[in-house]
Amino acid sequence: AAMTETITIRRPDDFHHHCRDQPITQAVLKHAVPRFARCMMMPNLVPPVTTVQLALEYKERIMSAMPPEPHAKFQPLMSLYLTDKTDPEEIRKACALKNEDGTPTVIACKYYPSGATTNSASGVTDYKNLFPVLEAMQELGMMLCIHSEVTHGDIFDREPAFIDEIMKPIVAKFPKLKIVMEHISTKAAVDYVLSAPDNLKASITPQHLMYNRNHLLVGGIKPHLYCLPILKAEVHRVALVEAATSGNPKFFLGTDSAPHVTYRKESACGCAGVFSAHAAIEFYTQVFEEEGKLDKLEDFCSSYGADHYGIPRNTETITLEKKAWKVPAQYQFGEHPLTPLQAGEEIPWSIVG
Ligand code: NCD
Ligand code: DOR
Ligand code: ZN
Ligand code: ZN
Repeated sequence: AAMTETITIRRPDDFHHHCRDQPITQAVLKHAVPRFARCMMMPNLVPPVTTVQLALEYKERIMSAMPPEPHAKFQPLMSLYLTDKTDPEEIRKACALKNEDGTPTVIACKYYPSGATTNSASGVTDYKNLFPVLEAMQELGMMLCIHSEVTHGDIFDREPAFIDEIMKPIVAKFPKLKIVMEHISTKAAVDYVLSAPDNLKASITPQHLMYNRNHLLVGGIKPHLYCLPILKAEVHRVALVEAATSGNPKFFLGTDSAPHVTYRKESACGCAGVFSAHAAIEFYTQVFEEEGKLDKLEDFCSSYGADHYGIPRNTETITLEKKAWKVPAQYQFGEHPLTPLQAGEEIPWSIVG
């Protein structure tokens, strides 16, 4: 009998992960820990993680929700939520804080335009308010992660508008600032990232590689594919797939796995977010395989992100096998069921162990 096809890669990191808070955190980690060595935990809690002290407390809550061995080496990477009032002194504090192994505890600050997405009400109302903070971040080498959408105009144009109105002025004023343009969703973003200096890179989610807006809207609205930035036309998906699978170090993995329980999404006002942690690496593997680019999977998932953040690449590995499995219709998240990406569908790749 033919051997099952397998692929072994350096253990991946997820540089954009919503771990939420207790009691949901435990359910999230059960999926994230078998797949990732490290996840950067998004700070859009209620209330948001705006200080080093709050980040440390959040990290403690995450550690206390960890599944038992053998996955104890998983490391949460923390991020700070920027507001109009963030004090540059807080950036200095964040940079000074190190883990026992000497790596930074807080590896990024997150810029949510106020009102752009889930729990962004305390976000930044005008990017100019951030200038003193960005000055400190540039000087100290702290990463700026950006939800790159304006909050005006047509929903499908908000990412390109952000590039012209906010990203370009920030990059011009702070040419050495390290930036991640997160969860890019348009060809305009791909082209911009390719043209930008090397200190600006981008993360790409599985859903933006696998789906376009027809999947979201044709034949009935699919609330479990609704996320922000919203899925775009096929031409954009194709550009994202080409970027992700090209081997260019400017593009790397960030799932934006964003759990919301089923009843909150299947609603007259369904919230934004796709939960993909249950099969994140499996999804990316499928995309790279379909492109004939499995040789580029490891660097996208496990090298370029760490390199951009200036943290060591992982030394452990993860193995996937071409063995189909069916995603459950739902997972229990605390008191409520949650519908994962591709619920009830077959996925061709599984993780081993
Ligand atoms: C399963 C779950 O959460 O129900 N987790 C998963 O698929 N990652 C349980 C399991 O199979 O371990
Ligand atoms: O779809 C999204 N959900 N996009 C975001 O930017 C935030 C996230 C969430 O927190 O649910
Ligand atoms: Zn976002
Ligand atoms: Zn997010």
